[in-house]
Amino acid sequence: MGLIPEKFLEIFEKLGKKELIAKKLIGSNEYEGELGEIINPYTKEVTTKYVKCSVEDAKEALNVAKAAFENTKKSPLSQRIAWINDVADKLEERKEEFAKFITLEVAKPISQAKVEVQRCIENLRICAAEGYHILGETIPTDATPSGAKTTSFYKRVPAGVVVAITPFNFPLNLVAHKIAPALIAGNSVVLKPTPEAPYTAYAFAKLFIDSEYAIKDALSVVYGDADVGSTLVTSSIPRVISFTGSVPVGKIITQNAGIKKVALELGGNAATFVESTADLDWAAQRCAIGAFANSGQVCISLQRIYVDEKIYDEFAEKLGKESSKLKVGNPFEEDTFMGPLINEDAAIRAENWIKSAVKEGARIIAGGKREGNILEPTILADVTDDMKIVCEEVFAPIVSLVKVKSYEEALEKMNNSPYGLQYSMFSNRIDLMQKAIDDFEAGGVIINDIPTLRFDIQPYGGVKLSGIGREGPRYAIEEMTEIKTIIIR
Ligand code: SIN
Repeated sequence: MGLIPEKFLEIFEKLGKKELIAKKLIGSNEYEGELGEIINPYTKEVTTKYVKCSVEDAKEALNVAKAAFENTKKSPLSQRIAWINDVADKLEERKEEFAKFITLEVAKPISQAKVEVQRCIENLRICAAEGYHILGETIPTDATPSGAKTTSFYKRVPAGVVVAITPFNFPLNLVAHKIAPALIAGNSVVLKPTPEAPYTAYAFAKLFIDSEYAIKDALSVVYGDADVGSTLVTSSIPRVISFTGSVPVGKIITQNAGIKKVALELGGNAATFVESTADLDWAAQRCAIGAFANSGQVCISLQRIYVDEKIYDEFAEKLGKESSKLKVGNPFEEDTFMGPLINEDAAIRAENWIKSAVKEGARIIAGGKREGNILEPTILADVTDDMKIVCEEVFAPIVSLVKVKSYEEALEKMNNSPYGLQYSMFSNRIDLMQKAIDDFEAGGVIINDIPTLRFDIQPYGGVKLSGIGREGPRYAIEEMTEIKTIIIR
C-alpha cells in the first residue's frame, strides 16, 4: 500500500539533535536513484535525504492509482469519513513533532508551524464532516411537456485519479487541502509534494496509509523534478490535476494537461486600502502580520497598501513601529516571527527588486537589508504603479505604500493587476464596505482585516492569473467529483 514512499524515501531522523540521521524506512530493496538533499534554510544543515523518482516511477504510481480507483470508488463513504477523522486524531497526537518537521525542512518559525499543524487538524475534521454533505439535487425535467412522467436527479461521483502537486510554503496543510477532499470523495491520489519538504509530506502520507480505515494503494507519493511533474500532468490516467504554485508552472499545466479537470491555486499581489475612517492602530498591527508572516512567502501575503492621503504619514509611522516589534532570526525559537526565505536566490532576487524600486524613486522606511537568505521586513514608501515591486508577486517580506486621494483611486490601482486572489479594506464606512465587496476583482474580499486572512472552511482561490477553481473542503470536493445525471421514465 502506498508503495512509493516506502520504496523510495531515505530518511534522516533524530529530532533531539535538530537533525535527521540515516534510517532506511521499511523498503528492503536498495534503490539506486539520484539523491535529493534538503538543507535547512537557517542552519544550512542537511535535514532530509530522499531518493528522487524517475519518470518510470511516476508512471508506476499512476498505474497503482488507476487500479486502486476500482476500490476507492466502491468503498463505503462511512469508511472514508472514519479514515479522515482517524488521520486528524493521529496528527493531533503528534502535533509537536509535525511542527518540528516543517521548521526543519522549510525554516518556518516554529510558532507558525504549530499554527499550520493546528489548521491542518481542523481542516481534516471539516473535510470529514463534508463527507455527510456530498449532495445531489432533483431536476424538474417534467417542467417541459417533453419531460412528462420523468423523474430526474443528479448525484456526485468520484472523478478518478487525482494528481496533487503542492508547494513549500505550507508543506502540510496545503497537502491536506488536496488529498483529504480527493480521498473522501472516493478518488485515488498521486501526490507530488514540494521537493523542499519531502519528509513532512511523507510523514503525513504515512498517517493516511497506516490508518486502520485506509483503502489499499489509494495514496502514493512521488518525489521529483519537472520531468516527473510533466509525466503526471500529461498522462491520460488522471482525471484531475490540482496544483498550487507559480503562474508560469500553472500556465504550463493548462497547456499540457489535455482534457481533464485542472484546479490551479496560483499567486497574487494582495492589496488593501486603508481608508481615512479606519482604526489605524488595528490596521497597522494587522498589516505588519499580513506582510511579513512566513517571510512573505504566502500567496495572499500583503504586498500593496493603498493609503488615503489624509492619514498616510500617521499610518506609515504606525506600520513602521509594528514591524520593528517583530523578532527576526532563528526559526526554532518560540518568539521568532520571521525566519529566512527558502533559499538565498529568493532573498537576492527580492533585494534586487528593492534596489530597482529605490532607483526609480521609492523610499525605504523600514528594513531593506539582507544577510544570507534573511531579508529584513521591508516597507517601501512613495512607490508608483509601474514598479515591479507592486506589479509582480514578490513572495518576500516587502510591502509597498501608495498614497491615494480617494476610494475610487485605490480601487482603480488595486484592480489594475493581472492577479486577483484576495483583497481587503480597512474602513468604518458601511457604504464603502458595500462598494468594495462588489468592486474588488478578487476571489475573496476581506473587510477590516488583511487579505492574508484564510479560514480553511472558506472557498479559497482567485480570478485572473491567480487561478481556476476553489479550495476549502466542500469546494475541493466539488472540483474532484463529477455530476452524474439520472433520468427515470
Ligand atoms: C497560500 O499560500 O495560498 C496558502 C495560504 C494559506 O493557506 O493560509
